[in-house]
Amino acid sequence: MISPNSIDQLLNAASVEDVVGDYVNLKRSGSRFKGNCPFHDEKTPSFTVTPSLGIYKCFGCQKGGNSIQFLMDIENLSFTESARMLAKRYGIDLVETNVGNKQEYEETQKLREGVQAVNDFAMEFFSQQLHQENEGKNIAIPYFRERGFTLETIKKWNLGYSPESWDAFHKAAKKAGYKDDLLKSAGLIKTRESDGSHYDLFRNRVIFPLLAVSGKVVGFAGRIMGKVENAPKYVNSPETELYKKSDFLFALFQAKNAIKKQDKVLLTEGYTDVITLHQAGIENAVASSGTALTPGQIKLIKRFTYNATVIYDGDTAGIKASLRGIDLLLADEINVRVVPLPEGEDPDSYCKKLGPEGFQDYILQNEKNFIFFKAELLLSGAKDDPILKSDAIKDILQSVAHIADALKRNALIKELTRICDVKEEILAQELGKLLRQSIIQDKKQFLNQVDNVIKLSIDDIPQNPLTDIHQEFALIRLLLIHAHKSFDETQTVFEFVIQEYLADESIFFKDPLTIKFMNSFPDEEGIKVWPGAEFYIRHIDTELSSFAAGVFSNDHVLSPAYLDNLIYVKTEDDSYRDAVIAIFLNIRRTKIEEIIIAEQQKLMEPDAEDSIDETLEYLDYLNTIKIEIANKLGNVVSRF
Ligand code: GTP
Ligand code: MN
Repeated sequence: MISPNSIDQLLNAASVEDVVGDYVNLKRSGSRFKGNCPFHDEKTPSFTVTPSLGIYKCFGCQKGGNSIQFLMDIENLSFTESARMLAKRYGIDLVETNVGNKQEYEETQKLREGVQAVNDFAMEFFSQQLHQENEGKNIAIPYFRERGFTLETIKKWNLGYSPESWDAFHKAAKKAGYKDDLLKSAGLIKTRESDGSHYDLFRNRVIFPLLAVSGKVVGFAGRIMGKVENAPKYVNSPETELYKKSDFLFALFQAKNAIKKQDKVLLTEGYTDVITLHQAGIENAVASSGTALTPGQIKLIKRFTYNATVIYDGDTAGIKASLRGIDLLLADEINVRVVPLPEGEDPDSYCKKLGPEGFQDYILQNEKNFIFFKAELLLSGAKDDPILKSDAIKDILQSVAHIADALKRNALIKELTRICDVKEEILAQELGKLLRQSIIQDKKQFLNQVDNVIKLSIDDIPQNPLTDIHQEFALIRLLLIHAHKSFDETQTVFEFVIQEYLADESIFFKDPLTIKFMNSFPDEEGIKVWPGAEFYIRHIDTELSSFAAGVFSNDHVLSPAYLDNLIYVKTEDDSYRDAVIAIFLNIRRTKIEEIIIAEQQKLMEPDAEDSIDETLEYLDYLNTIKIEIANKLGNVVSRF
């Protein structure tokens, strides 16, 4: 793990406006910057960068965070990868909390390269088995040909064959010098529990290599030829250093140019669907490999287009199960259309049936806005049952609420009025409720982000801050012992304290004893003077006198928190100046924190809507001060 200290240092160096500025054209606007969000399509900038907080935030797509997060989002990196990249760019040495981890990182890198080499070798091996060995030529090529794949297609997709053998691949790989451990890491051989011996993952299957967006082969899918009982139709590579199922879309490498050019992606379920469509010249198709869409997959899509058409296999159960995944697309501002296929058909079979042009036509004529599609689907079974119907409508509006664009939402509501046969006002009102809920959710998320950033810059102070009471007691102690000493050339410690105390109205004390003490200074011609420690030791108020006595007697018992936090208890004779400063800084910090919490609370209340911007600005300002204080405090404390 990278040490929090290093992260802090990194965030100080890699200023958010710098890091974001590499990707977004930022224009100054008051204490912030504005620009067009790089994460979604927009014409009016809703993407803001707040240097004082070190964060960016898009009020359109709700993405936000610090510099590290930005690089994670835009470059698709993990936290550590992103931090390392920034560290390199800004010349900062990241301290790993234990040295073993740096080594671990290098080992992971090595492993990734190893798995890549094995995959390259395996793709070549499977291809050779298909094209050059009799078994492949006689069994697998005919299988592909029967499915309608041309030789050109077979070559283009690097399709292959794994022979009917328990160890053909293992043997070949060993001969080529690959170690068992690496082959296992690549998921291409498995170990028998009984005796520890190994066997090939892919046996007697046709092979579909899985390529990352970059074109590198990250895994494989093997399909059984024909129908076999008691065996899965597809076997997939397990997740490896290179292959994460939830971040993978089949054929994105082959489809990305067409997707960009047509500004539209066709989402299908299966490998063969995609290959058939591409062969038919429909080259903007990708496959989710039979699972519901994941956020990782959507992120990939958004790099190329904001228009997606989901082509469903013709069975209603599957469609209903996938509706939720599509809300994710909507939330990401992707325009989602849907095309259902006739019962029993999938894109592969139906494209073959209709031919390339016929299939294209079918899509264009049948694609429907997802919301309308969902509405018709859910309402079809609920029309006569008012309860079912209102549940269905709520469900539909949930989807609408995911859409950030108000104009789009309004247009949809108008149309839904007709489809649902419900008054527009009622739909709008329901939708409003859902939206308010989600706004509050977003605000919470935003504030959490702010909190995290602030924590990163503040929580690294070497000691836990004292509680208020301890601060206040510490102040009395300090005054009793050091009030008469010089603070600097112009004033005594007492004078400094009084000045700080009177100059800052945000400072007030909570503990009754402290309040009593601070009100006990005699007044000479309007100026507070220090009466001397003796005055307190002999004070008629026993609370004051016993506290003072305690301070000056050696057996004065300090609470453990006090001892833990106040290192200067032991060395205070030469550090009382810093101690006084630290106490005031701490008191101010606590005060600021209280105000911040109160302001944040305001944001949580939905009817505070109007002043959101003002409140955010104010929070901004408070946090700047808080960070300033923390920095000063860091300096003071570190000198003890
Ligand atoms: P064909 O039947 O050869 O046309 O394949 P298909 O792609 O049409 O398969 P299907 O529609 O049944 O499934 C869609 C996708 O789900 C496949 O492409 C696979 O990615 C995945 N899938 C299907 N069956 C299995 C299985 O048994 N195991 C695994 N891991 N994935 C499967
Ligand atoms: Mn199929």
